[in-house]
Amino acid sequence: MQKLKIGILISGGGSNMHSIIRACKAPNFPVEVAVVISNRPEAKGINIAKDEEVPAFIIDHKDYDDRKSFEDALHTCLTEHAVEMVCNAGFMRILTEDFVDAWLGRQINIHPSLLPSFKGLHIHERVLEAGVKITGCSVHYVDLEVDAGAIVAQAAVPVLSGDNVESLASRVLEAEHQLYPHALRMIAEKRANLVGGVVKLKNDLIAEPSLYSPTLYIQ
Ligand code: GRF
Repeated sequence: MQKLKIGILISGGGSNMHSIIRACKAPNFPVEVAVVISNRPEAKGINIAKDEEVPAFIIDHKDYDDRKSFEDALHTCLTEHAVEMVCNAGFMRILTEDFVDAWLGRQINIHPSLLPSFKGLHIHERVLEAGVKITGCSVHYVDLEVDAGAIVAQAAVPVLSGDNVESLASRVLEAEHQLYPHALRMIAEKRANLVGGVVKLKNDLIAEPSLYSPTLYIQ
């Protein structure tokens, strides 16, 4: 099986990265992690990647004079590892137009809300303030507008009456760990196809019903 080679960009804990690495260990999973890159030397995810024997590098943005030279270093590392798709997983740097253009249609991100609601930061605080009853997470293509690219897959997560930011973030994160590998499989198997700025899916509901039904999260 020809596997889709991905590069994962992280800045922190790397739990989404870890869920992808674990999924890729299954022999029939159509994706392979070619490289992990962190822009922060202290990111815990870097050690997790090394422990999992995935090539892992720190490219610290502070070591570069400007965004362009930082992004050139990222680009070089990704291409040296024959990366076909870039997966942002808790990567906390805004990317310039040049980098976004270079990977357009080949870069995805995970965001902890049901886009297009709650773009940006402090999502769970705003979800609780708004009093919505269902939140979730989205994997989407990266384009020039932040958190606005074509949506690949989404998981619904209930907001419960006793929730605080931490409990909600942790329930959503659990869903993220299921969603990102699912989205990658859909892309690699060409069951999620970017057509005219929108992702068209094939057989998605049958593949992973728990990603769409919040009742499956409640015991
Ligand atoms: C996740 O909630 C992701 O959606 C957001 O940042 C968090 C990263 O967590 N962009 P981790 O580093 O994958 O543990």
